[in-house]
Amino acid sequence: MAILDETFMQGFIDVCAEGYRKGWHERNGGNLSYRMSEADVEAAKPSFATSKHEWAPIGTEVPGLAGEYFLVTGSGKHMRNVPKAPQDNICIIEIDNAGVNYRICWGLEKGGRPTSELPTHLMNHEIKKKLTDGKYRVIYHAHPGNVIALTFVLPLDSKNFTHELWEMATENPLVFPKGLGIVPWMVPGGREIAVATSKLMNDFDVAIWAHHGVFCSGSDFDETFSLMDTIEKAAEICVKVKSMGGKNQTIPEKGFVDLSRDFGIKIKEEILNL
Ligand code: 13P
Ligand code: ZN
Repeated sequence: MAILDETFMQGFIDVCAEGYRKGWHERNGGNLSYRMSEADVEAAKPSFATSKHEWAPIGTEVPGLAGEYFLVTGSGKHMRNVPKAPQDNICIIEIDNAGVNYRICWGLEKGGRPTSELPTHLMNHEIKKKLTDGKYRVIYHAHPGNVIALTFVLPLDSKNFTHELWEMATENPLVFPKGLGIVPWMVPGGREIAVATSKLMNDFDVAIWAHHGVFCSGSDFDETFSLMDTIEKAAEICVKVKSMGGKNQTIPEKGFVDLSRDFGIKIKEEILNL
């Protein structure tokens, strides 16, 4: 089967297309990475470039990802263009045995390098791979407008931000039961913001970057995309409620406890004001 027809490739391209359709990827905004399974790598290998690219520094250390392969978006590439020409806008990279360098094995055929947020993607992958026994494979960064708007208005702490968005639709606490981590404003694209974000990934599946965007993690493309979608929808409702003058009533605190019990999903209790 041609590499572009592989299920993992189609799933990746679909997230890029749908994220753009949602309005989360202006210009080159946002990026996506997927940790390939052994079967994915085997299926992709016949399409790998015959002359190997040079090793290049990741910009941080991820020893827990030594020898892994990732499908990632290219830096400066537009999500809008990924479905039209995947081979020019995304790439497969291999991580070296020390977890400090990568090399391109496929894609970016007209030149380029992986996303500038590669340190954050890979440090998040390293933590999630360990914490979930290899189950989590996707890290997704987007620039959804309502979440970004709220980072100018809501207090920038995990408890208050999560509580506000849990209130915005009854099933929200079941979709992000661990809540939302918050990274204060930082310069993007380097190791420092990668360290801050990956620290949060020990406790959360989501990190909000103040005045910038969101990082979501998950087991597959559907789970990860839908997590972003649910959070942005919650933020949209919150913006509407605030624009209409604010809440006149809301879900009672005990309601969250009842919800958690009835659906059998443990939600982070320190978010509640019990
Ligand atoms: P890249 O084009 O390097 O992926 O950067 C986009 C972005 O959103 C940076 O935070
Ligand atoms: Zn960004």
